[in-house]
Amino acid sequence: MAAIRLGDIAPNFTAQSSEGEIDFHKWLGNSWGILFSHPADYTPVCTTELGTVAKYTEEFNKRNVKVVALSVDGLESHLGWIKDINETQNTTVNFPIIADEDRKVSELYDMIHPNADSKLTVRSVFIIGDDKKVKLTITYPASTGRNFDELLRVIDSLQLTAYHKVATPANWNPGEDVVVSPAIPTDKAKEIFTKGVKEVKPYLRMTPQPNL
Ligand code: BEZ
Repeated sequence: MAAIRLGDIAPNFTAQSSEGEIDFHKWLGNSWGILFSHPADYTPVCTTELGTVAKYTEEFNKRNVKVVALSVDGLESHLGWIKDINETQNTTVNFPIIADEDRKVSELYDMIHPNADSKLTVRSVFIIGDDKKVKLTITYPASTGRNFDELLRVIDSLQLTAYHKVATPANWNPGEDVVVSPAIPTDKAKEIFTKGVKEVKPYLRMTPQPNL
């Protein structure tokens, strides 16, 4: 199994989920997507993670992002656990959780890291663009719950830089100045970015976020 790298087409699959069978590419449609794995149902960190994702539904919708979770637990387990998540996290899980009992998807996406745990998936994240290409991968260990604010921030950067000739600097947050793409000469950048271009160095040019 080859590693999944940035720019690759996200491998397609069909799988059972808590919301019925999913053909991944069809399910994504024209949306962006997040496919993320967690180690196991009925575990504390995972419960808080999936509750957090459910609470961020509006934020994902605003960004045209569909979310799907995965673990190697079965469908009955997922359905029972969802009730617990809803109850304890005061939310409603409204995204599918893939029941990957045969590890087909986990293996396809290299979500089991045997030197961490031979049976359970780690906390993998794949962000997929509306062109079905992998835009970002992150891997966390079981002991560390993910920061979903960071995922929203990354999606904002990915979507901004997909449509504008800019990049986002360290610790950037939406609304802050961005970097002009190195490929654009400064005189051309001044034509494109009408809000102004500040040349700190010939290779470091800042401009206000262009789509505000
Ligand atoms: C958790 O979600 O709390 C968890 C799962 C597996 C190992 C450690 C923690």
